[in-house]
Amino acid sequence: MAGNSFGQIFRITTYGESHGIGIGVIIDGCPAGLEILEHDIQMELNRRKPGQSDIVSPRKEMDKCQILSGVHNGFSMGSPIHIFVPNDDARPEEYSDIANVFRPSHADFTYFSKYGVQGVSGGGRSSARETIARVAGGAVAKALLKRHNIKMAAYVSQVGKIKIPPDTKIDTSLIENNSVRCPDQKTAEEMIQYINHLKENGDSTGGVISCVIENCPIGLGEPVFDKLHADLGKAMLSINAVKAFELGSGFAGVEMKGSEHNDVFITEGQEVLTKTNYSGGIQGGITNGMPILFRVGFKPVSTISKPQDTIDHDGKNAIVQAKGRHDPCVVPRAVPIVEAMAALVLADHLLRAKISKL
Ligand SMILES: Cc1cc2nc3c(=O)[nH]c(=O)nc-3n(C[C@H](O)[C@H](O)[C@H](O)COP(=O)(O)O)c2cc1C
Repeated sequence: MAGNSFGQIFRITTYGESHGIGIGVIIDGCPAGLEILEHDIQMELNRRKPGQSDIVSPRKEMDKCQILSGVHNGFSMGSPIHIFVPNDDARPEEYSDIANVFRPSHADFTYFSKYGVQGVSGGGRSSARETIARVAGGAVAKALLKRHNIKMAAYVSQVGKIKIPPDTKIDTSLIENNSVRCPDQKTAEEMIQYINHLKENGDSTGGVISCVIENCPIGLGEPVFDKLHADLGKAMLSINAVKAFELGSGFAGVEMKGSEHNDVFITEGQEVLTKTNYSGGIQGGITNGMPILFRVGFKPVSTISKPQDTIDHDGKNAIVQAKGRHDPCVVPRAVPIVEAMAALVLADHLLRAKISKL
């Protein structure tokens, strides 16, 4: 199985399965002298972990991180950083009823076809427990961004058809005030009610996470294949259940005219800004100093407790009905994952930018 590493200079490799001993990440290329506190990594993992509220999977995991190497007295040493998180509440027996059938729209069929094993006990590497490793790696990347005063916030802007009303002023300090991680309290309440309704009915829903990154220096991103938004797009589309990525105006820009869409330059003292930010802070694959704005679309999770038609490993018709512990909507838990992946991309490009000009 290839493709378990991400990044060029600041590079993570993740390992582990959902119902194995644990999950881990090895971070290569982190500069020495960066303050890395277990507490900060744990705080990010707590935002991702299951069982944190009524609207997410009730699996009870501590997700307690252990730094095994690369950090001494709270500072990186420049050597590989290894972070391990044990699985405490693995219950593979809960998956025995679906071990021989393919859950529609999950990774069961493709895994089985490609590897000859379904990895069903929680999806093997396809389980979202893999994202623990990304969040732990992302916490270290965030420490590097903090040194550069780069600020990042992701939040839930849509669940099903319920959206934050257009032109709402977003106060990112309110994101953690409710279990759905939507900074608009009225919308959050509607979202929570809808997710609870689906949970009671054994169904699931999708959602959108919006992300804003401020104080990013001009010049991050390489102009050909490694455009910053291409790397952000890959990072986001590699998250489980993600189906869409939009930068700036995204698909809405298609319906605009150039005269409306062009971000006109203005100056404020020495600073060059743009009047609008339909570019989402990136032009020609390179940051222009304006906030980076992007949106990530998640599908409704496929494991639902309603009975569904499917086939078994022999191609015979079967019914699948999940009994395990699943998320009715992943976006509240995916907020720290989106931030982690964005932090990893930026950390990598910050280090790459250091070698772009003498
Ligand atoms: C935080 C998070 C939690 C998830 N929880 C579940 C879950 O409980 N049940 C499920 O079927 N899928 C869940 N998923 C999605 C699956 O991991 C994903 O759909 C599966 O790996 C197939 O990949 P794909 O949907 O990207 O094609 C979750 C995803 C994320 C990001």
